[in-house]
Amino acid sequence: MKLIKASDYKDMSRKAANIISAQVILHPSCVLGLATGSTPIGTYEQLVEWYRKGDLDFSLIHSVNLDEYCGLSPENPQSYRYFMNCHLFHLVNINEKNTYVPNGMASDLQEECRRYDQLISELGGIDLQLLGLGHNGHIGFNEPNKAFEKTTHIVDLGQSTIEANSRFFPTIEDVPRQAITMGIKSIMQAKKILLIVNGESKKEILRRSLYGPVTPEVPASILQLHPDLTVIAGEMGELEIPQ
Ligand code: GLP
Repeated sequence: MKLIKASDYKDMSRKAANIISAQVILHPSCVLGLATGSTPIGTYEQLVEWYRKGDLDFSLIHSVNLDEYCGLSPENPQSYRYFMNCHLFHLVNINEKNTYVPNGMASDLQEECRRYDQLISELGGIDLQLLGLGHNGHIGFNEPNKAFEKTTHIVDLGQSTIEANSRFFPTIEDVPRQAITMGIKSIMQAKKILLIVNGESKKEILRRSLYGPVTPEVPASILQLHPDLTVIAGEMGELEIPQ
């Protein structure tokens, strides 16, 4: 694992965008695994800025997103498809047909999960997976659980996740109770993983994720076993690293 400390959110975003840019420049037709949430917004802004300057070309890139709420259409401003369109896809020259987000409106959600796993495997897997971290240690929407869920699946969101994500919705009742998320296996099979985490409020869960026991109670702890993990931690002061 490589742990990079960033001085603030902007610095974290720039460092993350640097790593993604290097991937896009060296492998122009690679598969990027992308994330939503507030943490990656600055990273996407930086990528868009460099794209506008002419430094990046996304025309051959494919992307797969980690997750989507069940029951939200792509036109719903709270859906993750809408988020990705606004923050990245519509602002760079990626071919929208090559961007994949689980379909939370599918009539058969179990079938949609199978289709998504198959899609990832047909693309040849993910070359670089960007991840944020939930306050309870979730990655994608893999919530703390008794066992790691391996493949794409439907998840009942935990109360703390519903509360944390309610800031994006008019009221807490509007937050969907279920989501589709890529499983731990798909995430762990990515060739490289880039975890970005910002702010004191996530310091303890980041410490448990990186240095605590590997347990499905802290889903991100599985990342300790990945052979090519980079973590960029912003605004955390000293992250005590146990000896
Ligand atoms: C959501 C997403 C996660 C994200 C998490 C943290 O639950 N499904 O992929 O990492 O929120 O969000 P934020 O970056 O806003 O703290």
